[in-house]
Amino acid sequence: MSRIVFLNGSFLPVEEARVPFMDRGFLFGDGVYEGIGVLGGRLIENEAHLERLERSLREVRIPNPYTRAEWTAFEEEIVRRNGMAEGFVYFQVTRGVAERDFFFPENTRPTVAMFTQAKAIVHAPAAQTGIAVVTVPDQRWARRDIKSISLLAQVLAKQAAKEAGAQEAWMVEDGFVTEGGSSSAFIVTRQNRIIVRPLSQAILPGITRQSLFRLAAETGIVLEERLFTVEEAYEAAEAFLTSASNFVLPVVSIDGRPVADGRPGQLTKRLRELYLAMATAPALAAE
Ligand code: PDD
Repeated sequence: MSRIVFLNGSFLPVEEARVPFMDRGFLFGDGVYEGIGVLGGRLIENEAHLERLERSLREVRIPNPYTRAEWTAFEEEIVRRNGMAEGFVYFQVTRGVAERDFFFPENTRPTVAMFTQAKAIVHAPAAQTGIAVVTVPDQRWARRDIKSISLLAQVLAKQAAKEAGAQEAWMVEDGFVTEGGSSSAFIVTRQNRIIVRPLSQAILPGITRQSLFRLAAETGIVLEERLFTVEEAYEAAEAFLTSASNFVLPVVSIDGRPVADGRPGQLTKRLRELYLAMATAPALAAE
């Protein structure tokens, strides 16, 4: 079966999908994107992702080409057409096709491209073993709260992590961890306090992060929002990251130093279980 992608309203085999040469996504990185986890063929927290998409589009002044119902229908259809049970739906909206000029083009329709990536999330080996991260300077622009497709700084950060034998980069600004190259960063202090950076323009408002706040509160677990330093992370009792394609993933080493005993922590495991329970709950199917 050929991989089916979505381009501007049509589903077609990836080999046949063509984006014009003068697309502003290609020329300027002028666009925004979203990524949604899929479990048991169902989209996880899709409404929240569509809400963030609407915000990103508003902030960069690209008109939203579809209603929430249309977006959802396209996402569900691409999951179905690719027979994907577990993985990731990616889509991006660019400002469209026009002669290269920095000013917004007039009468140009946004380009919409969507695809799926099958991936084991629940039984991912990294969920058992945990992953290594390394810290790198945060070299991104000043509006990291917008999910922009311009990801050069993250590409360089994550490649540096890979070359250092790690699976994720934790980006650092003024001595404080901002977030992961493509994930939100958390530590648990030796006093069992779960710490994550407060939302601002310095980080992406992670949807998994947001869900974790809700789920933790329901079970009486408190998440504390404040800045934390690299040194605090080295001294942490546990560390973990969250993202739509990983849910909650233990971090067991930072810059080559084991986090505590170098094994996934108990609170991290508990939070992962809480998230999995939400993502597999039958109630979601009715949405
Ligand atoms: N990345 N921070 C950054 C910089 C991210 O790129 C992401 C997501 C997150 C986590 O957000 P969420 O929980 O909504 O996935 C935080 C996606 C998965 C990606 O680029 O593939």
